[in-house]
Amino acid sequence: MRTVLLTGSTGYIGRRLFDRIKADPSFNIRLLIRNPKKFEQDKYPDVEVFSGDTLNKSSLKESLKGVDTAFYLIHAMGNKGNFESADRLSAVNFRDACIDAGVKRIIYLGGLGDKDSASKHLRSRIETGELLSAKPDKIQTIWFRAGVIIGSGSASFEIIRNLVQKLPVMTTPKWVTTKTQAVYINDVISYLVSSINLEYENDLIVDIGSDTVSFEEMLIKCAEIMNLKRKIIKIPFLSPKLSSYWLNFITPVPISIASALIEGLKSETLKLNDNDSKYFPNINPLTYEESVKEALNEISVRQIISTWCDSSGGITCDVPYVEDIAKAVFTDKREKTVEADSADIFNSVCRLGGKNGYFRYNLLWRIRGGFDKLIGGVGMGRGRRDECELRIGDSLDFWRVVDYAPSKRLLLKAEMKVPGEAWLEFRYNDNKLTQTAYFYPRGIFGRLYWYAMIPFHYFIFNNLIDELINRAKGSHKT
Ligand SMILES: NC(=O)c1ccc[n+]([C@@H]2O[C@H](COP(=O)([O-])OP(=O)(O)OC[C@H]3O[C@@H](n4cnc5c(N)ncnc54)[C@H](OP(=O)(O)O)[C@@H]3O)[C@@H](O)[C@H]2O)c1
Repeated sequence: MRTVLLTGSTGYIGRRLFDRIKADPSFNIRLLIRNPKKFEQDKYPDVEVFSGDTLNKSSLKESLKGVDTAFYLIHAMGNKGNFESADRLSAVNFRDACIDAGVKRIIYLGGLGDKDSASKHLRSRIETGELLSAKPDKIQTIWFRAGVIIGSGSASFEIIRNLVQKLPVMTTPKWVTTKTQAVYINDVISYLVSSINLEYENDLIVDIGSDTVSFEEMLIKCAEIMNLKRKIIKIPFLSPKLSSYWLNFITPVPISIASALIEGLKSETLKLNDNDSKYFPNINPLTYEESVKEALNEISVRQIISTWCDSSGGITCDVPYVEDIAKAVFTDKREKTVEADSADIFNSVCRLGGKNGYFRYNLLWRIRGGFDKLIGGVGMGRGRRDECELRIGDSLDFWRVVDYAPSKRLLLKAEMKVPGEAWLEFRYNDNKLTQTAYFYPRGIFGRLYWYAMIPFHYFIFNNLIDELINRAKGSHKT
């Protein structure tokens, strides 16, 4: 049985790849995760999970013992600092640790495009591929290169879908005419899985993608599929910076991802080889239109396995090892005795946010989210991946699920812009539901912020706990 190590399994591509590999009993699957709390081990008790960070080579050794094939699906792109050097260190550490452990093959997914005209994000992806494959005599590398990936929850598709849905008239910069070759997420996963058993000895670069389209054509076709009449007006002087602020405001993606995608749109991202059809003749990638239809269908039947905001997008994990609510200076605690089944209580708690909203004060939450977007925060647009289900690491509007013990506890950490750190916790014990907001202020402004929020908290938090209980008892009004 082949042992396969998967990195990036809490990310957009990795989660879907895990699902597919897991379904094949001929593979023994192993995961390397920065914080294993993000993996639902109780659902998959037979999967071996190792804690490790590719920025720390010594943390990789154990996970690589006995591995035949290792997937590298990691990047530090959302990092505010120097993501290029983090990406370089990560790739070199991983490659060398694989060589030391006797791994036979590394499979990597990077981006399509030519290094000379590439944006700095794409250049970093190319550099990662070059570093991973720099020792062909010691380890084989299969390097896939994809352009825009279309699928439910992919950042590029969410931008397209949100623009089309929200704007009857779209003003677009001139580089929306740049050509790319989009690819459907399930096809990407098919290539990655098929490459585990590919019989080939040397290094290989495989460009993947289907029909050639421009971003403008993608918008127009998506609007047609969604039965929406949309008009596009090209404005030549829209700068990349202005465009990324605009995308950040209109769509759920943050400025860091919006600007990376826009920079990427300035140069063509077309396939430079036909190794996809040569080495994987059984995979017939869907066209752009077919991919959009599939992605919209996945959204309508609530089958969003992963989204662009699942990962931390940075050099540290978004779910910290050490829970730091203990350092909170201010708390707002509400407690109610309630005779109810703990599962009903948590069904109610776990449906907070997204389309389900926050009961009576929805508007206040939305205003807070809108303000957050205005000042460059994540806002409320990320919503939730699934309307009922939560897992550790999920984003939930401007929160992140940092702890979840079904029927017992849910801890959310605020990712909106606040002068300090904030958490919201729900616990159910001995027929008591406890809801606590914690705040660790940064400086005097943080303290003033907390005091200014007290009147809002009074109304919002009282209503929140009451309505959660009402909903648990099945008497809530929607
Ligand atoms: N998504 C696309 O549209 C797209 C398009 C073309 C190519 N690609 C390529 O596909 C690959 C995967 O992208 P993605 O979209 O799946 O990324 P993603 O959603 O941001 O996931 C990145 C994954 O890497 C993990 N990670 C980051 N730094 C790490 C470290 N130092 N040590 C261990 N794990 C670390 C993250 O873990 P945490 O959960 O701890 O953050 C997360 O699981 C990338 O190479 C990307 O260039 C993606």
